[in-house]
Amino acid sequence: MEIKVVKTDHLKPKPTGALGFGTYYADYMFVYDYDEDQGGWHDARIVPYGPMEMDPASMVLHYAQETFEGLKAYKAKDGRVLLFRPEMNARRFQNSNKRLSMPTLPEEDFVQAVNDLVKFQEDWIPTGEGESLYIRPFMYATEVAVGVHPARSYKFMIILSPVGAYYPEGVNPVKIYVEDEYVRATLGGTGFTKCGGNYAGSLAAQVKAEKLGYTQVLWLDGVHRQYVEEVGSMNVMFKINGKIITAPAGKTVLPGVTRDSIIHLLKDWGYEVEEKHLDIKDLMKAGEDGTLEEAWGTGTAAVISPIGELYFKGEKVQINNFKTGELTQKLYDTLTGIQWGVLPDKFHWTHEV
Ligand code: COI
Repeated sequence: MEIKVVKTDHLKPKPTGALGFGTYYADYMFVYDYDEDQGGWHDARIVPYGPMEMDPASMVLHYAQETFEGLKAYKAKDGRVLLFRPEMNARRFQNSNKRLSMPTLPEEDFVQAVNDLVKFQEDWIPTGEGESLYIRPFMYATEVAVGVHPARSYKFMIILSPVGAYYPEGVNPVKIYVEDEYVRATLGGTGFTKCGGNYAGSLAAQVKAEKLGYTQVLWLDGVHRQYVEEVGSMNVMFKINGKIITAPAGKTVLPGVTRDSIIHLLKDWGYEVEEKHLDIKDLMKAGEDGTLEEAWGTGTAAVISPIGELYFKGEKVQINNFKTGELTQKLYDTLTGIQWGVLPDKFHWTHEV
């Protein structure tokens, strides 16, 4: 793929102080157009970051054909710029796009676009403790039409944002609200995809949880409202009696890149990991009798996020006295050590830009 570059003299000052998450955006973005009438993908370019003109009848605004990804670039102490398993994001993006009847992007084009934009914007990678450059690839339907059918034109774009921790709690335990009214996904739906619609549908529960002082929502399955699935911004794992349990991904649950990496690490360390449907009542009971030793979320944005409290239908359980567990901390240290190029990368997960 040939990528053209359009330069600007109007560069923004770099942020100083706490970065937060998704507050600042780099000077340039990547844009690639897809038109069925022009034989598919064309005009790959890196251009100054800025607003996009959009026709009010653009199909994404009406029928929500929109998918996205999330990954990060890390600046190693020795100056290398590292991505973490970008080919997994490329493949997940293809699966999301197929489900939403959108065109797919070849894996090598996705990785090249991410690689080249990050290289061009290397000076936007922050170097403070726990900071990285969040990469947000996304695609949306641009065809101007009213009528329900797969659009014939799309834009694929990538924007970059220097970030710190996703949760205001940082790497300290978060409080999670188990949702018993709304559902996120059901079999045959779009639960395994990263599409904006999944997140839009989750907001009512998120607002409810926040009003009660909880950071995030834990979703139960859409049929029985009984089995634990995922948190809106991360997959979840529970250590019960020494064994790790997490929901099976790929149907109603997002197949997280961090989730997959953590399962590899745990198995490598000799832990038994069971990917199974865990009944919320059994989970709350394990919380009460203390056999629920640790719980954490995994995600690109969330990294490894300890879970300190669960709330379900008026009942609360605290996990590990609301402290970050030993295994949770070891997973965080190992994963971030590999991502920042400090620890050996025995699984060959890092991609040098
Ligand atoms: C990510 O972890 O990259 C995500 O896209 C989650 C999002 C809620 C920030």
